[in-house]
Amino acid sequence: MILVTRRLPKPAIQLLRSHAPLCYHNSSRSLSRRELLRKIRRARGVVCLLTDRMDRQVIAAAEHLKIIANVAVGYDNIDVPYARSRGIIVTNTPGVLTDAVADLTWALILAVARRVVESDRFTRRGRFKGWDMELMLGTELKGKVLGLIGFGRIGQAVAQRAVGFGMSIQYYQRHPVEHSGRPVPLEDLLRTSDFVSIHLPLTPETHHLLDRKRLALLKRTAFLINTSRGPIVDEKALATALEHHRLAGAGLDVFEREPRIEPSLKKMDRLVLLPHIGSATVETRTAMAVKACESVLAFLRGETPPNLVDGTGGGRGVTGLL
Ligand code: GLV
Repeated sequence: MILVTRRLPKPAIQLLRSHAPLCYHNSSRSLSRRELLRKIRRARGVVCLLTDRMDRQVIAAAEHLKIIANVAVGYDNIDVPYARSRGIIVTNTPGVLTDAVADLTWALILAVARRVVESDRFTRRGRFKGWDMELMLGTELKGKVLGLIGFGRIGQAVAQRAVGFGMSIQYYQRHPVEHSGRPVPLEDLLRTSDFVSIHLPLTPETHHLLDRKRLALLKRTAFLINTSRGPIVDEKALATALEHHRLAGAGLDVFEREPRIEPSLKKMDRLVLLPHIGSATVETRTAMAVKACESVLAFLRGETPPNLVDGTGGGRGVTGLL
């Protein structure tokens, strides 16, 4: 039996259903911890989401489990080394969400630079009294420096879009890649970028990579964008830095303790806050779910599924695999 922990787009579930008996949690809410522990007991495979904490206890409860197919590119919700030690393979969904996340990163860059959300609120509240020379002045993008922390698929797709806006690119990544952008040490990137955008996986090495000290390096006029994983930024330290105007603003799609958000962040107009929707287009979410189900089907056919996550951590860490 294959356990599917939450509602998936129809094409994905139809694909799986025609090839394997399912235990399908056809709901928009996550399974509770108790339900997950109970249902996974009989499962040979599981298709799960990033909201499912697949830790030691859950994996240990799954005596028959052979494959965990995560419907996400990030897999910090899974104890991969432990799964691997029990002979369970883990897969993710890279590639199909690259453009959607890069687009949303740009939505945030533009929104913070041109005060789009703040202006919308202002207009709806009836405060627009006519054109004004100084109304909602923002920041020009042309000629500015975009610093990308992590330069894998998504980081590079964000860089590609920057060309049209006339920005120059610098990036931080342990292994330089062939690109016209400039590889720079992280501290230099933070000191010299006008927009800093994070595109890293969450690992023990990247947890709080942007801590109080590193956030203090940002220019006072800089904007921070995060569409990767919340815990890469120390959210309390970011809130304090913003309160003290040590940076100009931020665009955040992810948070340290989702769905909780540091309360002071919600009060500041210089922030745009989104509910973790980086990959949320109909096309991309369908492609992600189909990809995860295809991994399970390959496994059931006795093949090695594509998109294996190896769990060694070797050479990953502070790189831009996303
Ligand atoms: C979404 O956050 C993902 O990792 O796919």
